[in-house]
Amino acid sequence: MMTASPVVLIMAAGLGTRMNSARAKVLHEVAGRSMLAWVVEAARSAGAGPVVTILGHQLEAVQAMLDARYGAGAIAIARQVEQRGTGHAVQSALPLLAGDPDDRIVVILSGDAPLLRAERIAALINACAGNAAGLALLSTVPDRPMPYGRLVRDGVGRLLRIVEHADASEAERVIPDCNAGCYAIRLGHLRADLASLTADNAKGELYLTDLVARAAGRGGAAVLAAPFEEVAGINDRVDLATVEAAARRRINAELMRTGVTMIAPDQTFVDADVGPIGKDVWLAAGVALRGKTKIGDGASIDVGCVLTDVTVAAGAVLKPYTVAGSASIGPRATIGPFAHLRSGTVLDEDVKVGNFVETKKAHLMAGAKANHLSYLGDASVGARANIGAGTITCNYDGFAKHHTTIEAGAFIGSDTQLVAPVTVGRDAYVASGSTVTKDVPRGALALSRVMQVNRDGWADRFREAQARRRKSGDH
Ligand code: UD1
Ligand code: CA
Repeated sequence: MMTASPVVLIMAAGLGTRMNSARAKVLHEVAGRSMLAWVVEAARSAGAGPVVTILGHQLEAVQAMLDARYGAGAIAIARQVEQRGTGHAVQSALPLLAGDPDDRIVVILSGDAPLLRAERIAALINACAGNAAGLALLSTVPDRPMPYGRLVRDGVGRLLRIVEHADASEAERVIPDCNAGCYAIRLGHLRADLASLTADNAKGELYLTDLVARAAGRGGAAVLAAPFEEVAGINDRVDLATVEAAARRRINAELMRTGVTMIAPDQTFVDADVGPIGKDVWLAAGVALRGKTKIGDGASIDVGCVLTDVTVAAGAVLKPYTVAGSASIGPRATIGPFAHLRSGTVLDEDVKVGNFVETKKAHLMAGAKANHLSYLGDASVGARANIGAGTITCNYDGFAKHHTTIEAGAFIGSDTQLVAPVTVGRDAYVASGSTVTKDVPRGALALSRVMQVNRDGWADRFREAQARRRKSGDH
């Protein structure tokens, strides 16, 4: 008979008072992904079984995040109505495990420690499976004083109990080994030991950490050491910034190892859900890649580019300060500097979008060019069409948006206004300075500007007249 896969409980019911925030602590983001989602991702990639989150404060908001990210109901929720400590939190989840066998392994994690690695969770499960007392936990040595629980050992190094910072003596507070707050325990022991917890301590809470003393009576829990940076919990916004920096270092190091060049990794901000990023991608300082951005092989992204939910194809070149959101940039396209690609922008291969060009719901087909100072909104631009400087699609009449179609090979002269809805036919020309309000047939020239008049010698006569007037003292 197969033993049941481990179940993962993530404690996330607390408000996080020390965050001083209107938002539940676990919804605060680390590298663009909420803390709780980091922990869920790690639990899922550890190959453990179902994930249960224990929620209380702002349950609806946290549930909405989980449903949006993983699908409605994919992550089970146990409600802890009142927050009476971590032991009480886990008690709140027991009804969900009522039918499960005693030998099932339960992994217990904190929603406020986002950088725990999947491999560490797997190791914790193995350690529990091999431990006679049926309990394994992670220890860590913080690199600065932290108000963590301390691992109290006997003279020969056996783990006796965990003492919480609030309850610890001066001597106990200098014990270097701290409780990282991650455990794996057999369900049978968990049920029995949780039932015996009391709130007889400094905080008046049910401490999950008291399970360690119970396991000491069965031969002692297994302890795995973990680097502090990986298990650091977030209690306030100083911790948040420290963990954010560690997350970014981890993301960037992984990317560089897989073939991404970063000339200034400390100033390159790649969010956790970005990817894949191809080989030989080049990222300069001040680049921010956000949301579900994806980058193809060999693309280069210069200083100050901010891309949110953007797909960049292989070989595309983004010059400095390109800002793009919900857009797709085709192979070998060249964008910027100072281009603004807004939502619904689709650029096909070899498109060129130059400085001070804004696009929105615009599809530029292969080889089309808009090199300077244009607004292209609700527009389709055919292959190889050329959009002159200062061209504007007048897409909005104050009530509705209208579409502009520019067919393949069309040439739009500089300073043209295209009043939508309007179509410029294939290979047609629009003369510079035109206001186009009617469709332009294929191959035609549209010219709507005022005709030019030249007056021979006028400037010379004008200057002479002015000079005479000045001499005679007139004004
Ligand atoms: C806890 C540990 C401490 C450890 C530290 C590591 C206990 C008693 N202490 O302390 O030994 O060194 O983590 O980071 O476990 N939560 C609930 N319901 C509650 C209380 C807490 O869901 O009633 C959740 C919180 O939302 C949080 C997690 O449990 O995600 C940890 O709680 P927190 O209050 O932050 O515990 P620490 O004081 O950090
Ligand atoms: Ca904490």
